Amino acid sequence: MTANRIVEFEPDELDPKDWSPFREIAHQMVDDMIDYLETSRERPVWQSPSADARQHLSAGLPRQGRALHEVYEDFGRHILPYPTGNIHPRFWGWVMGTGTPVGILADLLMSAMNCHVSGYDQAAALVENQVLGWLAEIVDFPASASGLLVSGGTAANLLGVTVARNSLKGLSIRQDGNGQERLSVYGSIATHGWAGRCCDLLGLGENAFRKIGVDSHDRVDIDALAAAIASDRASGFRPFCIVGNAGTVATGATDNLHALADLAQREGLWFHVDGAFGALAKLSPKYRHLVDGLERADSVAFDLHKWGYMQYETGAVLVRDAAAHKAAFSFAPSYLETFRGGIAVEPTEFASRGVQLSRGFRALRVWMNLSVYGSDRIGAAIEKNIEQVQYLKQRIDSERELEQLGPAELNVVCFRYQPGGVSEEVLDQLNRELLVRLQESGIAVPSNARIDGHFAIRVAHTNHRTQQEDFDLLVKSVLEIGRSLTGR
Ligand SMILES: Cc1ncc(COP(=O)(O)O)c(C=O)c1O
Repeated sequence: MTANRIVEFEPDELDPKDWSPFREIAHQMVDDMIDYLETSRERPVWQSPSADARQHLSAGLPRQGRALHEVYEDFGRHILPYPTGNIHPRFWGWVMGTGTPVGILADLLMSAMNCHVSGYDQAAALVENQVLGWLAEIVDFPASASGLLVSGGTAANLLGVTVARNSLKGLSIRQDGNGQERLSVYGSIATHGWAGRCCDLLGLGENAFRKIGVDSHDRVDIDALAAAIASDRASGFRPFCIVGNAGTVATGATDNLHALADLAQREGLWFHVDGAFGALAKLSPKYRHLVDGLERADSVAFDLHKWGYMQYETGAVLVRDAAAHKAAFSFAPSYLETFRGGIAVEPTEFASRGVQLSRGFRALRVWMNLSVYGSDRIGAAIEKNIEQVQYLKQRIDSERELEQLGPAELNVVCFRYQPGGVSEEVLDQLNRELLVRLQESGIAVPSNARIDGHFAIRVAHTNHRTQQEDFDLLVKSVLEIGRSLTGR
């Protein structure tokens, strides 16, 4: 961080007076960020922001600006050292993607263009439609499907279920709401928390999401689901949607999606799949069978910022019936009139597929990543992640003091330190403390889950930077911390 020529601005202008010092510092930033990425392995995975950083980052509104190079120095001192950590090779917490070098460049380019992608006759609209076509091909949806890039899985799932609800026959939901109808949605207890929030936001109430039990592989119990639908119908509810999981958040399990598609068909219900990370297993020729049946969904939600390794925020929803998708969200304010020529040919093309009017050019990120890496390479990285998790499972199995908890499907494994001879309550506390110490050590960041009520350390692997040795170090560190906590 050495560029320090003053970048000057007129008091009422935002572009620099002279672009040359701006260019210098911009080049410096690119160089620094490449160094930062190249050396990510040498830093702690995570560290809590220092007191100094906290103080600096609580200062009030800067009415007078400061020199760009000084502000950049502050960034280097108070912000850059304290990331979430998910760019590091040993971050496996929650389900966070790593980001790609190509994605950084795409973000720079998209930011420079700063396109407004509610629609309009522009390349950004062509790019978004092109990548939506690519994504449909990846998950074996028909080319006629519609879709939208959104901020992430929660937004994508919300849109999918909203299309399901707004497509209900005999109701004018968009104008009149659901009136006297008591609507209900079905999915397993292993479904991510977006489902309850979605029902809440749709005005159905969280309890409209019926949580059905799972088998020993965390897959929804189909008979119980069918029985719940029948029982709800009998008591006056109107079921309208079944949610299937392709990769549950805690264990990576995939429901029997064919059976769910059959059931939805029999019952005349919408079939939505949450494939937040699992959907992209479709890219692996070796493991795509694990999410078989996903292609039969009416709508599917997934994230490119998880197992697509792309930068935040990049999620996608695809809807098989393009007309239903448009009917669910279309709107035509008078000031966004459609013209036969000029830029405003279809100014709300994308805005009519979701809830955002102003939208950015995140499609460029997807376009550049897929164009440069190719979908096969991303599939190969996904395959590597799955096999590295299988390796970690073997390492856990081979250690007497480690115990795998629950099923470990796809790219997720849950486990705990188990010294033997201690109560479940003590084990929970011990593993909770162990996880905090591990994260604070800066060596590795897994997260946690509850498996059958027990506290588990959870590795969800969507990290393209991890090498096998990183999992050896994880096992070694868990054992060392566990032994030090138990005085062994
Ligand atoms: C299975 C599943 N569904 C949905 C989500 C929510 O996605 P997002 O965090 O992108 O909103 C997640 C996030 O981890 C997830 O794992």
